[in-house]
Amino acid sequence: MSVRRERDQLARELDAARRRIADLEAALLRRGRDTLTAVLRIEAFREQLVEELRRTRRRGLQGALVVLQIDRLADIHRDHGFAAGDAVLGALVEALRAGTRTEDLIGRTGDDRFALMLREAGEAATRACVARLLGELQGLAIESVGGISVSAGVALFGPEDDDPVALFAIAGGALADAQAAGGGRAVIAADDGEDLGVSAALQRRDAVEALAIALLERDRYTGEHSESVVEMAVAVARSLGLSPTQVEDVRAAALLHDIGKVGIPDAILNKPGPLTPDERTVMAEHPVIGERILQAIGGFAQVAGIVRHEHESWDGSGYPDGLAGAAIPIGSRIILACDAYHAMTSDRPYRARMSHADAFMELRRCAGRQFDPQVTAALVARLYHERAGRALHAV
Ligand SMILES: [Fe+2]
Ligand SMILES: [Fe+2]
Repeated sequence: MSVRRERDQLARELDAARRRIADLEAALLRRGRDTLTAVLRIEAFREQLVEELRRTRRRGLQGALVVLQIDRLADIHRDHGFAAGDAVLGALVEALRAGTRTEDLIGRTGDDRFALMLREAGEAATRACVARLLGELQGLAIESVGGISVSAGVALFGPEDDDPVALFAIAGGALADAQAAGGGRAVIAADDGEDLGVSAALQRRDAVEALAIALLERDRYTGEHSESVVEMAVAVARSLGLSPTQVEDVRAAALLHDIGKVGIPDAILNKPGPLTPDERTVMAEHPVIGERILQAIGGFAQVAGIVRHEHESWDGSGYPDGLAGAAIPIGSRIILACDAYHAMTSDRPYRARMSHADAFMELRRCAGRQFDPQVTAALVARLYHERAGRALHAV
């Protein structure tokens, strides 16, 4: 075969492989599954949890919700690269599958967070299962990384529990305790009174998760959109060299940037067409409403500030304060660009999605006007890298 024919053939195969991957991803997404690990995404997981709580109540059963987070995934990314991070996630999911029963449920609730629902499991069985899982993960030998240190928070449930948001908050509080104690361990939330567990837990980072679920319930598109923006925003924040604390603030703000939409009337929020000027004015209040919601929770001052300014433009033409350039918090600038990219490449009821190539061009075109040029450059580099990596993966 001539060199040229060989090359043409290769190009055709590459193209076919890319199409297969795209189809596979679309099929996974349609079934409510995460594209990287093929476990349930948070909204599908949550639906099943609600269903299980109903069954638990009807039949007087018990069960457990376990939230797990990989300790220091950011360090793995930094020290070993994103491919190693993906290998860690894959190995984790495999271990979770192997270590649970088929009737249990695995979901991915964040880029380094997973949830398990153990059906008809009491405290002793749950304890044994989680301890075995963490031990197995620690003993893994993933090339260059070694074992995985994972922290877990457990909320047990029984017939009287009917609130999935509260359960996530309780498990999240226990997870925070496990992490504060150095990670690599599990904490089971103590069952000592109804509101104590919830209100104490809500004071901490898991409030983020609870709010994100509330948003998902209110407006599915905005909830899913926010989750997609998180990964991009965190990657851009890292590549711009932000401190770990700033990166965590960006992560929370990205997940909650549109939380203020819970305060926007349904008729406007779900309108299947462009908004009138009056409706747009109401919609434009969502960053300020979001700031108020976050200010009401302790420890979220920075995040609230980022959310307030998520629609400010680099050239000063944005809202609510018309800030320009470096006066806009860096987190807000990052979220604006990632948000725009995700919105452009998503289908909406009133317009079709833009191709990734066109969205790249649009980002570049608006750099220096709507978007911070440095942020745009980092985002485009990241997206380019990611898409090239995925295509290579496919071959
Ligand atoms: Fe927004
Ligand atoms: Fe948004």
